[in-house]
Amino acid sequence: MPDTTLGYYSTADLREAARRRLPKGLFEFMDRGNDDEVAMRDNVAIMQSIKLNPRVLNDVATRSQHITLFGKPQAMPVIVAPTGSAGLAWHEGEIAIARAARAHGVPFTLALGSMTKLEKVAEAASGPGSSLWFQFYMWPERAQSHRVIARAKAAGFEALVFTVDTPVAPGREYNLKNGMTIPFKFTAQNTIDVLMHPRWLAGVWLRYMLTTGTPRYQNFPEETQTKITALPMGRSSNFCANITWDNVRELRKLWPGKLIVKGIQHPQDAVLAADCGVDAVVISNHGGRVLDAAPVPILTLPRVVDAVGQRITVIVDSGFRRGADVLKALALGANAVMLGRAPLHGVAAAGEAGALRALQIYHDEIDRVLGLLGCTSPAQLTRDHVDLSRVLFPANNPGD
Ligand SMILES: Cc1cc2nc3c(=O)[nH]c(=O)nc-3n(C[C@H](O)[C@H](O)[C@H](O)COP(=O)(O)O)c2cc1C
Repeated sequence: MPDTTLGYYSTADLREAARRRLPKGLFEFMDRGNDDEVAMRDNVAIMQSIKLNPRVLNDVATRSQHITLFGKPQAMPVIVAPTGSAGLAWHEGEIAIARAARAHGVPFTLALGSMTKLEKVAEAASGPGSSLWFQFYMWPERAQSHRVIARAKAAGFEALVFTVDTPVAPGREYNLKNGMTIPFKFTAQNTIDVLMHPRWLAGVWLRYMLTTGTPRYQNFPEETQTKITALPMGRSSNFCANITWDNVRELRKLWPGKLIVKGIQHPQDAVLAADCGVDAVVISNHGGRVLDAAPVPILTLPRVVDAVGQRITVIVDSGFRRGADVLKALALGANAVMLGRAPLHGVAAAGEAGALRALQIYHDEIDRVLGLLGCTSPAQLTRDHVDLSRVLFPANNPGD
């Protein structure tokens, strides 16, 4: 059998490979959090202090991690989260990740802020096994937002993911220090950084320059769609601070497919979302990239499940680095888990093969840990499998 590990055995390996391959400024732009990065660190630290209670002698010889999401069977209990600018990690990286998701039978969420046109991604990554979701932020000019949604609908995207956790721009000091400003300006510092990463320069930047030209946000309205080196660019000029629940109700009327609100951090907001008729919420602190004092999503999860779990689908993300983490969320009542950085690191490390590898790592870990817990399917997981005592009473733990 051919070796498909590429020498990467954990998502940490993929992150390290991405760090080596990408210019420092770009890697930090994709990998880091915001402000003091407390939320980002806590996502992982709290996740790691949650323990799982195994049950034994259950015959786990035959296992399956299939789930049913929105009435559709899917091969793994994960979804690829939207990560803007994946196309800067790899040439047309969005297509590479979408194809990897299709191969693993899991949904792929295309970010509004992608470098590849949504129609091109849909064409390149549809077909058997494919489930394409489209993420968007509302623009101040509502008609522009409605036009991009109409494009996603026409291209066949099944679900619309409305991200609501970033009404104003987060503080990311490292981008300023690295010269990763918007619009992008070439400085001595970032030019040297790029020149020191020739594989990225040739494989990503020059490939764009020789084909479609300077990378740009291809899904932005024509009138605002400019090169990343020019104004107006990115959401810096497009943050929409006046979104309300009325916008969700309006979207419900506009979008006939599955409607998902991403960035819920309070059970009462999950109830309001359900009242607006959405199909799902994603409990998320954006991977610790927006509000540094944000709660840790996996800890908010049980309260959201209690509040709306009988009415709508509950998805969670932020800090899921291992298959065991995914199972912790399922045991606490999540229907599925979104993965952000790991597939992005995978694609940065080795394109489609790297994204495939990222999902395979989760697949293998989920399968292994499921068996070690005495379960043969995610449906057998219950809250009884989860031990939160180290999170709730850290002082009582030996060694602390
Ligand atoms: C580089 C990067 C870009 C992102 N861009 C978006 C985006 O455009 N829209 C969005 O809803 N979330 C975006 N996110 C957040 C992810 O969808 C997801 O919520 C988060 O990465 C999950 O945390 P994790 O990275 O710890 O898995 C981005 C995350 C990263 C790391």
